[in-house]
Order: sequence, then C-alpha cells, then structure tokens
Amino acid sequence: MAVIKTYTDSDGLVSQVASQTIALIKSTIELNGSCTWVLAGGSTPVMIYRHIARNLLSNVDWTKVTILIGDERMVPADSAESNWHQAEQELLHYIPEANLLRPPTARSLPEAVDHYRSTVEQLPASPDGYPIFDIVWLGVGEDGHTLSLFPDSPVSQDLASLVLAIEDSPKPPSQRLTLGLSALKGTKNLMIIASGETKANAISRATKSQSLPVSKAVRIVENSGGNAIWQLDEAAAAEL
Ligand code: 6PG
Repeated sequence: MAVIKTYTDSDGLVSQVASQTIALIKSTIELNGSCTWVLAGGSTPVMIYRHIARNLLSNVDWTKVTILIGDERMVPADSAESNWHQAEQELLHYIPEANLLRPPTARSLPEAVDHYRSTVEQLPASPDGYPIFDIVWLGVGEDGHTLSLFPDSPVSQDLASLVLAIEDSPKPPSQRLTLGLSALKGTKNLMIIASGETKANAISRATKSQSLPVSKAVRIVENSGGNAIWQLDEAAAAEL
C-alpha cells in the first residue's frame, strides 16, 4: 500500500522531498556503489531541483549517479519548454560529473525514441530484464496523467514498451517521448510529487482509481516489489 506523506505547504514539500531524495541517493551509493535517478518534468520538481542545488549538492558523489528523465517534449534543447533544460538550469548544470542521459530531441521523434530506448536498455537490469531505477520522481496532471501518459490515450495502455512516442499530447507540445509503464517495473523507490489545490481532485481520484495513468504507475511499482510514496502538500491532499 502506497504511503501518503503530507506537508503543511509547498516549501515544506520541496525541502523534505529534496532531503529525502539526497538521503536515498547517498544510501543507495553506499549499498550498491551507484544510483540511478529518473527526474520529472513540471513546476514542483523544478523548485526541488533549485533547493538541492542551493543546499544539498556537496553531500553526494555525483560521479556515481546516473540521471534520466521520465518524459521529454520534442522541442529544441534550449527551449524553456524542455523538461531536461529546466532541470539543467536549476540542477544538472551544477553536477556535470554525473552520468547525464538526456533524450536526443534534435532528432526525429522515432529516432529519439529508438535512441532513448537503447539508452534505457543499457542500464543495469533486474533479473526479469527491466532497468533498475533506484529513484523515480513522477508529477501528476490535473487529469491524472503522469509522464506523458494521458488518460484515454491508447499509448497509455501499452504495457510492453520501455519508451514510447507521443504524437498528439493533449497538453502542448503535442510531440513527446516518454517512458512506458513497463519501464517502471525495476523501480525501487517511486515518489509521486504534487503541490497546490489544483491537484487535489486528481490526487483524490488517483488514490482510488485503478485506471488513471498515475494509479497504474503506482500499482506497477508496488507489484514489482518497489516502494511508492505520495509526496503532497496539504492543498494537494485536501480531498483525500
Ligand atoms: C510534462 C510533465 C508532466 C508533469 C505534470 C505535472 O512534460 O508536461 O512531465 O507529466 O509532470 O503535468 O506538472 P506540474 O507540476 O507543472 O503541474
């Protein structure tokens, strides 16, 4: 059963998720010698990247950390709309020594998907062949989407592909690439991060639903033996 953690406000959420993530990165490196962290797009993760960069950078041997991102928009590398670029400006820029696995969005969508899939396939894998992600952050949209997996999209039903092309995202930009749900089967620690009253209804539905993409992501991780934690401020948790 997924744990639900709530914090008084978004500042509390940001500082707690930042310090818990850094503690997990450090303990994973102590245990296994390395750590793989999958970043999320979205406004709350950006605030957490900034908090880590300002307060917690020196605590980690970043040469032992591999960083990916769960989904990316097919926009130029320096576009303000690029999820990776946002993370880069706030955090990744300060840790160039990490193993930074950016999706190649300058290529065509099919080529970018093929390239990112082969990147993911080269990561250490679980005995049943899924990439081992020590930490995955996911955001939640007001419609219950996560990654670039939107409710009612046929692509969101795909339980086989590690990486998927999105041609018609209802949230712009329309072209994106995203990890598929099956890519989460080797996830050790999932954090679903949401802040603000606009998320309250989606969070309430997501914790009860079996069918929203974010609900499926939680179930897949838990069924594979990973931990899932909802990281919410009180506004996002208001309808639970
Ligand atoms: C994207 C994001 C998306 C995001 C949620 C939450 O590319 O649009 O990856 O899945 O995580 O929509 O975003 P906010 O935190 O900005 O609401």
